[in-house]
This record gives sequence, structure tokens and C-alpha cells, in this order.
Amino acid sequence: MNAFYDILIVGAGHAGAQAAIALRQKKFEGTIGLVGNEKYPPYERPPLSKEYLAGEKPFDRILLRPESFWVEREIDLLTGRRVSKLDPVGKTVTLASDDEIGYGKLIWATGGSPRMLDCPGSQARNIHAVRSRADVDKIMAALPAVNKVVVVGGGYIGLEAAAVLTKLGKQITVVESLDRVLSRVAGEALSRFFEAEHRSHGVTIELDATVAGFETGEDGIASAVLLGDGRRLEADMFVVGIGIIPETGPLVAAGAATGNGVDVDQHCRTSLEDVYAIGDCAAHSNAFAEGAMIRLESVQNANDQAKVAAMDILGEDAEYDAVPWFWSNQYDLKLQTVGLSTGHDSYVVRGDPASRKFSVIYYRDGKVVALDCVNATKDYVQGRKAVVEGLNLDKDELVNTEIPIKEVGIH
Ligand code: APR
Repeated sequence: MNAFYDILIVGAGHAGAQAAIALRQKKFEGTIGLVGNEKYPPYERPPLSKEYLAGEKPFDRILLRPESFWVEREIDLLTGRRVSKLDPVGKTVTLASDDEIGYGKLIWATGGSPRMLDCPGSQARNIHAVRSRADVDKIMAALPAVNKVVVVGGGYIGLEAAAVLTKLGKQITVVESLDRVLSRVAGEALSRFFEAEHRSHGVTIELDATVAGFETGEDGIASAVLLGDGRRLEADMFVVGIGIIPETGPLVAAGAATGNGVDVDQHCRTSLEDVYAIGDCAAHSNAFAEGAMIRLESVQNANDQAKVAAMDILGEDAEYDAVPWFWSNQYDLKLQTVGLSTGHDSYVVRGDPASRKFSVIYYRDGKVVALDCVNATKDYVQGRKAVVEGLNLDKDELVNTEIPIKEVGIH
């Protein structure tokens, strides 16, 4: 291991890996170190709750690059190492092993750790997160002996896991604390559609349901979850998908401006000199959220911010202003989202949800701000322009699926 890198990247997920790739693509010839706390080379995270959990894609097919790539590009992969401290004046990081690594520029790309429940019994061995390969490997190893699963959290992770586990023949109950699923990312019409879909596949969905604790035996295995209203749901396995907590500890301790993540400017620079932050952990002023400081948990954001940071380091002019997009696969449903629907004041539904092919188009102040498209890729592709340009699409024409979105009149 080098004790100094011209560019040291902490976090070997989508954002960190993409930053290293972008630097080499742009012919950066200095030394690059890529530190990751997992023992594996960078891999795609979205399949973990989808094809990987389903056993449809082996690990080598979700690697971001073949292992030889990192060697050929002279990117030092420092796997299985966790950074515990940052000294922004001496420009070094300290690893959990007490080793120190110096840097010229630092890119912080640590993402987040899964939020876990904190209640009696929540440390039981059969309560699982879905964030890393290790999490999912544990689930997969246990599955043959499992019939009933309670999934806590009705976000992307919880619902995707519910869909896969249902397909694998397990009996699933989703416990969601709010009054609808997907509330963080989608409007109500979409939530109701997904609830109905899951129910039609045999999933039980408990809304407005809080977790009070787990019944756990001496073997450290939970056999039931206790809900806030006193009910008790028995299961052999519990999967928790209740969001992530950005990994920012060393940056906070080093005095970086933080709040909901590490604050960065449009060039992905933190308030510390020569320290950048990108991906899930980076809070930035987003043009598609009326300039609010937000974190975006998406592959798109990880990749785009990685490129911006790489370009800024290399003295190229780049500002982050990418339109956010997301996707989720559940059963045979492909949900594609472009823009941010938070704060919308009206929406229209285009197409019949009963046909399982439709889109929800969200407006704020007379402008399209987001589209959620279910099995409607054409709408997603054509609606992008409306979001980017903030167009006021004619609602009467928009609900007419005979008219392609790109031909809908604009006010
Ligand atoms: N009990 C039940 N439900 C809860 C609780 C709780 N204690 N706390 C939160 N929830 C619910 C939220 O209301 C929300 O519906 O869990 C859901 C969590 O959804 P997200 O915040 O979207 O988080 P998650 O699905 O875990 O995804 C985490 O992984 O794939 C990515 O894009 C995804 O970046 C996101 C991350």
C-alpha cells in the first residue's frame, strides 16, 4: 500500500469507483487509491435487492468492472479498510488499523449505512439489512429454511425484497410506519397501485404499523415482531429497509459543514480544502428541488457527481445540474422516475393503472417537475425534456395516451 496518493477516494461504491474511472478516462496520470470497507471490488448495488437476491445474477455479473480493470488502470484498490479519521490540515486519513494515508485531493464517497431498528430484540441474528453483498449473502444462505418473512419498511428496498421473496415462494408481510408505501419517493396514486400489486401477489401490507420489538429466544433468533398496536407477527426471517444514514463521521469530526450529509457546492467541494464529497452522502443545492440542500440516493447522482468532482480536480469547468432519475423493478413492473415530485401541487395520471402501463406526471406552480412511469419507458424518455425545461404540458392532451408526450401542447 502506498502511503500517499495524489487522489485518494474513500468509498468504493458507484460514486467512488466512477470517480476513479473518470479520472483515468480523462488521462489523469497521478496515483489513485480507492479505499473500501467491504472486501470485494466495486459492484453494482441495485441488483442486491433484485436479481442478485433472486439468484438470477451471480456476483461476477454485478461487478462494476472486471478485477483486471483496476490493475490495468493503475487504480490501487484498498479493500477491507475503513477510514476512521481525517486530518484536513496534514492531509492524511487514518484507517481503523491505525495506518495513515496522505493525499493531494480527497474524494469522500462513503454512501450510507442502513438504518436499523433500535428496540428490544432488534439485534437478533435473523434480522437483516439489504445494503451490501454480505447482507444479501446472509439472507440467501438462510432462505432454504425460511417460510415467513416480515419486511420492515415499504420503500424501494422493502418492496423489491418483498417481490423477490414472494417469487421464491415465501410468505411476506410488509410493515410500513406511514399510511402508504413509497411515500418518500412517489405520489399517492403510485403508492396505491404498488400496494394493490403486492397484495395481488399474496403479500400482506400493514400500513400505519410501528415496530415495538422482537420476541427473541436464547439462541438469538427472533420468532415474531411485536407491533405498536400490540399485534404479534410470527416469522422466520426479518428484513429491514428503513433508509440509510449517511457515513460522514470523520468529516464531521474534521469540521466539515454537514447537516443531512456533507454539504458540497456545485463542484462537489466540501467546506474543507481539497476535500470533495459525492454520491449518497453529499448534500447539495439541487435545481430540481428549488435549490434545497438535498441528498440523492441514486446511481445517476453517484455517477454524475463523480464526473463533476473528477473534472473539477483536473481544472475543467463542470457544475452538477443533472436531472435526477431512479428506477425500481418489482415483479414484471418497471418503475422509472425522472425529476423530483416532492412538493408537487397537482398531478395527472396518464393511462389506466389497471392496464399496468401508466405514468403519473407531477406539477408544481404550473410546471412539470417529475414523472413516475410504470412499464411506460416511452413516457419516461419523452417526459424528461418537460422536467428539464419545466414545461407546462397541457393536462387534457397528456391524459390522452394516443398523443405521445413529445407532441403534447405546451402553455
Ligand atoms: N418501521 C416501518 N417502516 C419504517 C420505519 C419503521 N421504524 N422507518 C421508516 N420506515 C419506512 C419509511 O416510511 C419508508 O417508506 O421505510 C421506508 C424506507 O424507504 P426509503 O427511505 O426509500 O429507504 P430504503 O427503501 O431502505 O432504501 C434505501 O437504498 O435502493 C436504495 O434508493 C434506495 O437509496 C435508497 C436506499
